[in-house]
Amino acid sequence: MSDIKAVIEQLYVPAKSASENAYSPYSSARVGASVIDEDGKIHTGCNVENASYGLTQCAERNALAAAISAGMKPGTAGALLIFATGFDVLAPCGACRQVMSELLAKDAIVISCHSETEYNSWSIGELLPNSFVLS
Ligand code: THU
Repeated sequence: MSDIKAVIEQLYVPAKSASENAYSPYSSARVGASVIDEDGKIHTGCNVENASYGLTQCAERNALAAAISAGMKPGTAGALLIFATGFDVLAPCGACRQVMSELLAKDAIVISCHSETEYNSWSIGELLPNSFVLS
């Protein structure tokens, strides 16, 4: 539990700030995500929608793409935090679960916050048991 509180202290404000940049004229949902890498650097993303709805990019995948683009090594980040308005506590979508299971550390925690005190948290295994991998 204290681990979770420490992660919220580091990642809540960056995710909330990123959510303010959401481009979501179709759903009005504002989602932000933040991920912390091995060096303690924080990377963020927000949801970016499109008139061709299926091209919408989720905040979690955008944060991970930003982290990888900045040089984060896959499989090293220990935590990702989601902040969303327009949902009670957002449960990450299936596509984001697949990407998180490949790019976060195997023992990473994912926390989804409605506020600093209302949140859910999961391990990667809880979010996506028996995930698809190439062998
Ligand atoms: N969304 C996310 O950013 N992350 C998720 O895990 C689920 C959904 C966004 C996509 C879209 O802009 C809006 O929330 C409604 O689906």
